[in-house]
Amino acid sequence: MVRMLIHLRSFPTTSLSSRSLTISSSSPTQQHKLWSGLDNWRNSPINDRRIWGPNGPLLPSSCDSISSSSFHGLVSAAPSLADLGALVLSTSDPLSKSHISHLAFSRWRSENNLPVGSISHLPSSPARPPKPLLVPTNEVPSPKDSPLPLNAYMLHTLAHIELNAIDLAWDTVARFSPFFDVLGREFFDDFAHVADDESRHFMWCSQRLAELGFKYGDIPANNLLMRECENTSNNVAARLAVIPLVQEARGLDAGPRLVKRLMGFGDHRTSKIVEKIADEEIAHVAVGVDWFLSVCQKMNRAPCPTFKDLIKEYGAELRGPFNHSARETAGIPRDWYDPSCGTQVDEGGSNKQSDKEQLSAVYDRLTHIISMESENSSLERRPAK
Ligand SMILES: [Fe+2]
Ligand SMILES: [Fe+2]
Repeated sequence: MVRMLIHLRSFPTTSLSSRSLTISSSSPTQQHKLWSGLDNWRNSPINDRRIWGPNGPLLPSSCDSISSSSFHGLVSAAPSLADLGALVLSTSDPLSKSHISHLAFSRWRSENNLPVGSISHLPSSPARPPKPLLVPTNEVPSPKDSPLPLNAYMLHTLAHIELNAIDLAWDTVARFSPFFDVLGREFFDDFAHVADDESRHFMWCSQRLAELGFKYGDIPANNLLMRECENTSNNVAARLAVIPLVQEARGLDAGPRLVKRLMGFGDHRTSKIVEKIADEEIAHVAVGVDWFLSVCQKMNRAPCPTFKDLIKEYGAELRGPFNHSARETAGIPRDWYDPSCGTQVDEGGSNKQSDKEQLSAVYDRLTHIISMESENSSLERRPAK
């Protein structure tokens, strides 16, 4: 909390509560091109298409609606958006968490006078079911050692990411709610909206896993995202840098590869779900970019070096290969994340970065590409079950 206050204290506090001053897409030093779909996403109606039908998303049947209606009482009793977030975070059952998340966002959207509220004591991590067992990344079974076929294995990994993403977005809402005056109502609206998208993604993954004869929790999963959530709980700028701009942007890189692998495996239905999710993730990265720029502007800091400093300080790893076009569409400038880009050239044409540093950056990038490619080929070699 202290570090977050230090960062926020340097804001020009006379201009903090007006949206007109908080949504600027420009940095102190340069204009910034945001995702062209951001306004449409922000103004889009509630999306109730939480079932994956024969050809894509559908409205739920009356039975599914009845099962989620049992949470109406809990959701209506919450006095604020931050309390709704805390309710989602304290729910351990994944499907209940997803239903409550959607009901919470629907209520927030339908009640104009519901306050954001303020929660000062939030558990450091959200409630989780007994399964999957959460383990360090290197202890998660590889596809080769997993009892699940490759398509179900990939879907389980994605379901885990989506469940974490629900909690990460609500944690951002509830955790930073005491800074409403600084961040403004729209910040909280955006992250509650992200949580709603993630809850829909989890439903699709969960449904498809069941169709394949499996369920979320069948294999251990990593605790990486929750660790990063805890690490950044004291600094809103770090939360934005590490979660939407590093972790969610990684989804933009991995999405098309995952779709290709699933097509290669012959599971077109799962590949369609993954394709749709990857497409919707652009909004989450774009929202992160917009708010990161806004926070940098309040701190009077240049976004690119601030982003680099934060990911170094918080130990977030930037790993390629990068999907540059998707990242550009989402509004992340290449010089923020790509070490091979953005080197400065002086007037005489000589490069300021030493040859040794350049070679080291190229070597690191090649190492990442080689390790990713060998991982991909070992996945692709796995026979279909
Ligand atoms: Fe998602
Ligand atoms: Fe997301």
